[in-house]
Amino acid sequence: MSDVVRANNIVQLDAAQFRYDQPSLLSHQLAGHPLFTLEKLLVLAKRLPKNQVRFYYATDVKAYSALEGVAERHKGDLSLDEAISRIAEKKSYVFLQNLETDPEYNEVIQGVLGVIEPQTNKQDPGMYGRCGWVFLSSPGAETPYHRDHEKTFLFQIRGAKSLSVFDPEDPSVVSASENETFHSAYTLRETVYRPEIEPKAKVFTISPGMGLYMPFSAPHWVKNHDEVSISFSVTCNTRSSQRIEYVHRTNKVLRRAGLNPNGAGLSPAVDRLKYLAMRSWLNLRGKSVS
Ligand SMILES: [Fe+2]
Repeated sequence: MSDVVRANNIVQLDAAQFRYDQPSLLSHQLAGHPLFTLEKLLVLAKRLPKNQVRFYYATDVKAYSALEGVAERHKGDLSLDEAISRIAEKKSYVFLQNLETDPEYNEVIQGVLGVIEPQTNKQDPGMYGRCGWVFLSSPGAETPYHRDHEKTFLFQIRGAKSLSVFDPEDPSVVSASENETFHSAYTLRETVYRPEIEPKAKVFTISPGMGLYMPFSAPHWVKNHDEVSISFSVTCNTRSSQRIEYVHRTNKVLRRAGLNPNGAGLSPAVDRLKYLAMRSWLNLRGKSVS
């Protein structure tokens, strides 16, 4: 493990303030890490399997665009080389996925989460599914409104960006149907940006040395400022995120049966029953992760 990652001060997270269901700012020392220069990331992009590299023209991609299929719809004549080495003028977006499959970058992912886990474990135990991702984007590029099936620790390496982050359990932002479809079918087809929800967002601006924790499945969209942006994120799940997913999946089953179940987080006892029911059913089918 490199000295940079080994150092306990690679990520600063205020354990006393941290709440797993609330976004919060972080600080870090990854901005000068030699693996996150454009040159090294181009080398990485070329050695990753093709299905782990997505790139496209970001000119017409906005917060309200659909994220699913965006790379296919906006690829045009862009090459991977151009998308990265001429990112300042090409208005491109590059997404490098599942970097935990690459030994060099996996060392950084495991090192960073190895520093974070002791800080969060007491409140939010059971970390699993540790992954890493890099996002490269041109000045002004926007990332469409979406949500992820993990909790995210996002570290800004170069440039600045603003993120609008929403509460995934606020029914005025995320309907019960959207939550149940997202968690059961793993699709964003009901996750659609509506301008009227923007006042509900918590907006964070991060620059090199700063980071942002986003709770499991929190909707968000991102706008770059006027420089090239490089961001590195590590993601994971925990018992709390699995519980939220299983509650919504159970709710979908109950709704199909004609009932009108409450969302997640309103009653710990009811949530636990729903969680155990889904876990038992998935265990029977050999599909539970625990
Ligand atoms: Fe995301």
